[in-house]
Amino acid sequence: MVNARLTIDPHFTVGKVNRRLFGSFVEHLGRCVYDGIYEPGHSTADADGFREDVIALVKELGVSAIRYPGGNFVSGFRWEDSVGPVADRPRRLDLAWHSTETNEVGLHEFSNWLGKVDSELMLAINLGTRGTLEALDILEYSNIASGTALSDQRVANGQKDAFGVKMWCLGNEMDGPWQLGHRSADDYGKIASQTAKAMRQIDPSLELVACGSSSAHMPTFGEWERVVLTHTYDDVDYISCHAYYEEKNGDLGSFLASAVDMDHFIETVVATADHVKAVLGSEKTINISFDEWNVWYLDRYHQVDKIEGVDNWPVAPRLLEDSYSVADAVVFGNLLISLLRHADRVTSASLAQLVNVIAPIMTEPDGPAWRQTTFFPFAVTSRLATGEALSVKLEADSYETAGYGVVPLIDAVATHDRETGLTSVFLVNRSQTDAATVTIDTAALGGVAVLEALTLADDDVYAKNVLGDTERVGLAESDSVELGEGTLTVTLPPVSWTALSLR
Ligand code: AHR
Repeated sequence: MVNARLTIDPHFTVGKVNRRLFGSFVEHLGRCVYDGIYEPGHSTADADGFREDVIALVKELGVSAIRYPGGNFVSGFRWEDSVGPVADRPRRLDLAWHSTETNEVGLHEFSNWLGKVDSELMLAINLGTRGTLEALDILEYSNIASGTALSDQRVANGQKDAFGVKMWCLGNEMDGPWQLGHRSADDYGKIASQTAKAMRQIDPSLELVACGSSSAHMPTFGEWERVVLTHTYDDVDYISCHAYYEEKNGDLGSFLASAVDMDHFIETVVATADHVKAVLGSEKTINISFDEWNVWYLDRYHQVDKIEGVDNWPVAPRLLEDSYSVADAVVFGNLLISLLRHADRVTSASLAQLVNVIAPIMTEPDGPAWRQTTFFPFAVTSRLATGEALSVKLEADSYETAGYGVVPLIDAVATHDRETGLTSVFLVNRSQTDAATVTIDTAALGGVAVLEALTLADDDVYAKNVLGDTERVGLAESDSVELGEGTLTVTLPPVSWTALSLR
């Protein structure tokens, strides 16, 4: 049996939980858009061709802002292709994913869809193969009410009101050699600064994100952030982080501790941003937009999914359609714990991605839409983590990992909402063999009742929801919570994720 003790005090606040932490990402990649959110022939399609079964699941997931249209795709994207009469839109080669982009769904259609799922638009601009002028053009088209060439074009294209996009990513993963238009930190820092300054001449209140590293394991990690922020510190509000995790070589123990790596990533980027702040003598603080995070079997993509051939440019091919296990969902829930633990500095995050492509929601053409295992921790955390994130005191047994050394077997975070009086606790048990008894000291909360206790676990940690068996894995009400005098004891099954809601 694993043992742990957790103390929760609503006075020990880390920072406000920003709703934008529960953002996601829709890229024109594989079947995320076409045959994903959009399938005009589907039995649930609405008058605009969007699947209503998918809309219902996205709403249930509780997604705040959605980053669009890429990703690697954006570095070859000409935004003008995606507006105007659909029949006139060009078909283009998408070099990032070796596909054909039909542009049937573009800026207007996607914005319309966002209204149906109650999410905010977060746009990425192309700083790979394009520059400042095209960034200004899409900003004018999107955000100016009317009376200029591009804003009037938007109105003529059927959108009277400006889209009013607040948050803009200045390119995507510009540190990555795979990126179209990949640049050095110095070159990217200069163009990002110039573009941000120009965009702010249109609207100083925009929230701008400079590209950080595409992983903490890039050879340029750390130095990239320092150089880029030295150029852009006064011009941007956020630096981005991207991280994907997978089980490698059967080492489940290390994989289950992936959040240790995410913690380190965030803390290193915060330290680097604050170093630049000190050097520049700035009063301003740069926060993190963790705008790509997930479990992704990238090794598999490199070996199997990639499309090649000069004459082979399919429309909406099946790409990156990872199927997630219970173990994946436990790691995923733990990554959310890491994001919440850093809520003071991670004020925006985007789960990459949303439908079919490394996604919590899967669909089949002419068939069902279903929840992957990762759907559950996201939906519950998005619903319950409100108010402020708390710094919890955790003492837990530990284990040795090849990847991260000795790490705790239990990880946890809590949130407290002063307005509703609701306290939520999110926990994982990383042990592959033992259940864990966690004693939670709740004395500082006064008397509490347990409103909800939900657990994700399975005897088979590799169980998945797949076509033909779409409800194999789900949440269970935990019956192992015991209330004591100022304490709460909960038993966590091996390899499990649990959420408690208390008041
Ligand atoms: O999310 C899939 C891809 O991962 C994105 O296009 C890219 O930004 C990242 O490398």
